[in-house]
Amino acid sequence: MKITFEKSRIDKIGADACLFLFYQDKKLFNEELSVIENLMKCKIARVSLEDFEGKQNQTVLVYSGDHRIILSGLGFRKDLTLERIRKAVARGVKKAKSLKIRKLAMEILQDQTLEGVEIEDVARAQTISSILALYTFDKYFTNKENREIPGVKEIVLFSQYNSLTKYSKDIERGIISGKIVGEATNFARDLGNEPSNVIYPETFADIVVKQSKNRPYTVEVLDKKSITKLKMGGVLEVARGSGREPRFLVIKYNGGRKNDSPYVIVGKGVTFDSGGISIKPAAGMGLMKVDMGGGAAVVGVFEAISQLKLPLNVIGLIPLVENMPSGNSFKPGDVITAYNGMTIEVDNTDAEGRLILADALSYASKYKPKAVIDMATLTGASIVAIGSVASIVMGNDPELVQKLSLAGEQTYDRVWELPLWEEYDSMIDSEIADVKNSGQTRQAGTILGGMFLKRFIGDYPWAHVDIAATAMRDRETDYDPKNASGAGVRLVTQFLMNEAHGN
Ligand code: BES
Ligand code: MN
Ligand code: ZN
Repeated sequence: MKITFEKSRIDKIGADACLFLFYQDKKLFNEELSVIENLMKCKIARVSLEDFEGKQNQTVLVYSGDHRIILSGLGFRKDLTLERIRKAVARGVKKAKSLKIRKLAMEILQDQTLEGVEIEDVARAQTISSILALYTFDKYFTNKENREIPGVKEIVLFSQYNSLTKYSKDIERGIISGKIVGEATNFARDLGNEPSNVIYPETFADIVVKQSKNRPYTVEVLDKKSITKLKMGGVLEVARGSGREPRFLVIKYNGGRKNDSPYVIVGKGVTFDSGGISIKPAAGMGLMKVDMGGGAAVVGVFEAISQLKLPLNVIGLIPLVENMPSGNSFKPGDVITAYNGMTIEVDNTDAEGRLILADALSYASKYKPKAVIDMATLTGASIVAIGSVASIVMGNDPELVQKLSLAGEQTYDRVWELPLWEEYDSMIDSEIADVKNSGQTRQAGTILGGMFLKRFIGDYPWAHVDIAATAMRDRETDYDPKNASGAGVRLVTQFLMNEAHGN
């Protein structure tokens, strides 16, 4: 999708419709109406507004002369947040889409209300929200009529104030970075939404290798032979029951100085999680094609940071497996040996994500990382804990966790911290091996996932982001569609942007 900033007057843009953002405050509401009437040289019949009051979830379409005007509510000005702008934009562009609008002009919100928020941030937020809200995954409908109606093809941001033009460079920067991050998120969504007969370890690797040809990052694909040689027991054992061979991706982006220690970003890449011998119930199992959402997010992060040209060195590690029951499967009671030599008693083959992450996290040590962040759809318990409003973060370094929390607030790809207290540690002790892959009870499921990973962490600051609740959605929200959401891409990209800018 094309998104640009246009300095000329709105009537020169030639859009099929215009989108304006409205406060609920009476005075500001009426001022905005007269702004539109002046800009478009039209009169908006007040009755055509119906019950539109600028409330947060309201949108309305009005016709005036030749113009189609979409109004989207922000709520009261005192409650304004960047997220409310994103939501108002998302509803507005979806309304435009439902009206088959191809070229949409959208007002950029100029308001100094938000402390510490620059016009560049607003432009970025409006751009990202538009791109995320207009995402569709309809490639498998053969009947054209079953496909989504044609989407908005072009958005032109404009300002009602001439004074804004002095900010046009900032606005353009916001649009460019917003477009990169939005499209990187949609790339991760596509990976997640592809069914597991199309995306399995080998084809996931192929897609990322192909994508890297156009970008300044490289991808090394370790095949089963190399993984065997490295003695990555977690990856090998989980993959054993499947007809699909495992892969292990090492992605490298060197935007920093030669000797800068790298950030390592790890993603769980289970291309389908049936649960294995500890098989999952049938209902909703199809969504487990998105169990590689952490890996997809890692790829999205590389898409974003390499195009943003961040001056950092970053390494991505993605263990890729399919978890299936068969005569060859690993089984409850098995003892396996991870990459770092530690032994793991398999209590439940459905706690497979932590087994492949154990290999990847201990492998990460060899890069002497500045910090390691892993993203994984690890526990159903995280959904029970806080619902799909945020991901869970845990870690061994309060500063790193705090930085991720900040990046979460900035992007609204949010995280909430749970503790890794030592009292939980003995709950994953095994009677026959160094550690067990699940607890005895249903208590603290998400934390025990974190405690397990903690045992494989090297000498580096580490944070684990459990995205089970956010990576796969069972219903559409303002700018997240149903199914794969690309959770984690905006979070970790923003974190790295902040690191690059010395925040
Ligand atoms: N991939 C699942 C977690 C999951 C569940 C993600 C629902 C998204 C939605 C993970 O591999 C898993 O099965 N975890 C188990 C762990 C348990 C066996 C200790 C779980 O959450 O039940
Ligand atoms: Mn599982
Ligand atoms: Zn899983």
